[in-house]
Amino acid sequence: MGSITETRSLEHPPFCEDEWSPLHEVIVGRAEHSHFPSEPSHMIKTVCPPGYTHEFRPSNPFPQPITSKATSELDNFARVLESHGVKVHRPELVNWGDVSGYTGAMARDGLMVVGNHIIESCYAWKSRRDEVKLAYGSLLSTLAKRGFKVIRAPAPPEPDTIYDGCDIYNGESIATNPNGPQNGEHKPTWAINNTRPAFDVADFVRFGKTVFGQLSNVTNQAGLDYVAANLPESYTLRILNVDSPRAMHIDASLIPLRKGLAIYDPRVVTEEELRRHPPLDNPEWKLVTLPFKPQVREYPPLYMTSPYIVMNVLSLDEKRVFINEEDKEMAEFLKGLGMEPIPLPFKHVQCLGGSFHCATVDLIRE
Ligand code: NVA
Repeated sequence: MGSITETRSLEHPPFCEDEWSPLHEVIVGRAEHSHFPSEPSHMIKTVCPPGYTHEFRPSNPFPQPITSKATSELDNFARVLESHGVKVHRPELVNWGDVSGYTGAMARDGLMVVGNHIIESCYAWKSRRDEVKLAYGSLLSTLAKRGFKVIRAPAPPEPDTIYDGCDIYNGESIATNPNGPQNGEHKPTWAINNTRPAFDVADFVRFGKTVFGQLSNVTNQAGLDYVAANLPESYTLRILNVDSPRAMHIDASLIPLRKGLAIYDPRVVTEEELRRHPPLDNPEWKLVTLPFKPQVREYPPLYMTSPYIVMNVLSLDEKRVFINEEDKEMAEFLKGLGMEPIPLPFKHVQCLGGSFHCATVDLIRE
């Protein structure tokens, strides 16, 4: 028989369409056996900060002290969520080194709930191809029995030509060519082509009946078309024009905290662009930028993200929001917006590629 929390969560229908309504059921990732994803160097140099790109080679685990502390941080986060009455699911324990994979910590990247649909990413990265099947396969079967419509990714073609022709820009690697696409140019050369649908669902963010998406180095036009075609009826995909040739995942650039309040990074997307689309064309939506510049930290390293990862927060409801306990300026900023930050240790999880938003999949919100 179900526990008390299970019984309560079953009272809620399988439904989630935004990032802020009271959270009832969630997946929290796990960090054990995380490995640096081995992808072509033009991809890694394009989307990851410089300094660590040599680490992204086959069979290279993240340093053990980092995965071990990240594991404790995720376990603690799961316990705190449970103490707030949220039903928490965890991925299967997978040795990612055995399958040339990456991690089970960044759950957000692979699964998105819109209404009662769960959409699986068509990953561009080969290292992530089996991630959802291995880590969430049995959970997805259970969720399908509970009324979710689970849309599994089609197998990529063999051979997969997603990288063909994308590793150069005027004869040099796009990541190192000083004349390659820079911020300010509007036609970036992405690290993948459009030969098959490719997308990470972390390139999408939900504002109720509107889902925003972006082109990025892991999401192509065929991927956007696939998501648009697979949304439930009455939901619309709106494509944001972002100005970031290094783009990979939207959730450190645009995050709604509650209905009517979102934070965004103006280096990536302008307010004018956001205001072109409903519901943000309504002045009831307040759009706010960070009043401080997040600083690069020395240790533990952000191997895979910019310091704007401070924005990658998770709303428990329209008031409370989880943030990394060391992000004091972020805490003050959120308090000034009328939010109540819940600070938790999370800096080692951040090393693996994301923070609270990246490490979760909200399955059911009220
Ligand atoms: N790639 C982006 C988003 C990460 C969640 C960044 O590094 O800021």
